[in-house]
Amino acid sequence: MRILGIETSCDETGISVVEAKAPRSLGKLGISASTPQFKILSNAVSSQIKVHRPFGGVVPMLAKREHIKNLPIVLEEALKAAKTKPEKIDLIAVTVGPGLEPALWTGVLFAKELSKRWKKPLIGVNHLEAHLYSSLIAGKKIPLPAIALIVSGGHTILLLLKNFKTWKKIGETKDDAVGEAFDKVARMLKLSYPGGPEIQKLALQGKVDAIQFPRPMMHTKDYDFSFSGLKTALFYYTRDTKKYKKADVAASFQQAALDVLVYKTIKAARAYGVQSIILSGGVAANTALRESLGKTARTSGFHFFVPDFIYNTDNGAMIAVAGYLSYLFKKKRRITAQANLSL
Ligand code: KG4
Ligand code: ZN
Repeated sequence: MRILGIETSCDETGISVVEAKAPRSLGKLGISASTPQFKILSNAVSSQIKVHRPFGGVVPMLAKREHIKNLPIVLEEALKAAKTKPEKIDLIAVTVGPGLEPALWTGVLFAKELSKRWKKPLIGVNHLEAHLYSSLIAGKKIPLPAIALIVSGGHTILLLLKNFKTWKKIGETKDDAVGEAFDKVARMLKLSYPGGPEIQKLALQGKVDAIQFPRPMMHTKDYDFSFSGLKTALFYYTRDTKKYKKADVAASFQQAALDVLVYKTIKAARAYGVQSIILSGGVAANTALRESLGKTARTSGFHFFVPDFIYNTDNGAMIAVAGYLSYLFKKKRRITAQANLSL
């Protein structure tokens, strides 16, 4: 089955064509023989970073304007790169939420129009589910059950996965998402938007133990997170310290955030006796996090999975993959923008 995936929930316009081969059995989805296989025929992404950079963050109405302008261009690029035509598409998948409402609407309306014009079925996708499913793109066997850590600009979530259809949310952030903390801290350090990659770059030149920032909620009994106190500690440090090395602040901040993420994920994996740990979402593009969680997971006896870099930040391929699984599982969603949709 050939799926067109459309993503416009934030500041990337992503359209992808994915060929999906059905799993042998649905019941055991996630176990070797029954893992669906995906071939990414194209993955076109138009980033709006330059447009939002002067504002230090995403401006929703500008995002809407850019998506509207870019969607037809990105569609043409995705079809061309996949060497395919509308007639060959079997299913259209579009992000319906969560995300910025004006941005979501552009993708939803565009997908509805395509569906009508091409006479193809349309399915709504939960953006967070898509981040989770991006771990299936590599086509590797993921032994289950698993703990999944989803880290993005808007969310920090720990899931206990029985399989790829059934899961339970066991923890989430009580305030800022970890990506949001990276972005806000970057702004405090006068780095450009988006902050995550900038902090990562600067951190390479600093010492991770130069400043002892707090590790909020690291030792609480639950699996929840909090990053707002860490951000505030950094604010006071930079305000009250006469001379400091920005790179040390970036490295120490990154280390504090990573320590909590790694510690709580491993703790959850042990407590629930799972086999695998899955990392996904935009912040999963952070090399230090991938390496640190990967290493700790493996030495603790867990399998570790993280998608290739290009599938961590928002893209159409993960939407197509999630659309396919929603279709397989017969999950129906309203095709309308749902800014606060949860997992
Ligand atoms: O998943 P995503 O593209 O969009 C949302 O669904 O939110 O994630 C974007 C977030 C931003 O906060 C960005 O700063 C962060 O992911 N991010 C990173 C890195 N690359 C992107 N954070 C830390 N290190 C990175 N290398
Ligand atoms: Zn995302």
